[in-house]
Amino acid sequence: MPATPGNEFWRGLKPIAESFKPDALPEVYLPNAPIEDDRYYVPFSETVSSRPLWISPQQNKWCDILMAKSAGLVNRHYHPHEVFAFTLSGKWGYLEHDWIATRGDFVYETPGEGHTLVAYEHEEPMRVFFIVKGPLIWLDEDGKADGAFDVHDYIALCRDHYEKVGLGAAAVDALFR
Ligand SMILES: [Fe+2]
Repeated sequence: MPATPGNEFWRGLKPIAESFKPDALPEVYLPNAPIEDDRYYVPFSETVSSRPLWISPQQNKWCDILMAKSAGLVNRHYHPHEVFAFTLSGKWGYLEHDWIATRGDFVYETPGEGHTLVAYEHEEPMRVFFIVKGPLIWLDEDGKADGAFDVHDYIALCRDHYEKVGLGAAAVDALFR
């Protein structure tokens, strides 16, 4: 706990001396997850990009901030596993559902769903916190499988972009847990 001034009632409590088990990995702390700096956003489609926050190669899972500055599209795909989303700003939804999500809206997509993600024009960019378990299966016009995207593709995409913009691939690897 940082030594900051204050009179909160819990100030006298002692932090757990050994809070990590010997083989536990360290936590991830990223200030300002939905950061303004565009370098942190990895182009995911032509109009939508992703800031990686946490990546689990073992679980084929990642957390990110999905961002679109204006109208955006992540074309049709199928999820064999679940997806969680929490909307920070902007306006987005799926062509397959009636709802439109804005700031504060939570979404859970059940395993076994295909959808087409769209971002609407809005005064603020779309920024959504996602927890995704891969893979995404890309679907063609007729809903037939047409390629896949899993955590390993995500890692490659992120490393490549972070190298290009000068953040360095190691900044992506630092998110692995
Ligand atoms: Fe999706």
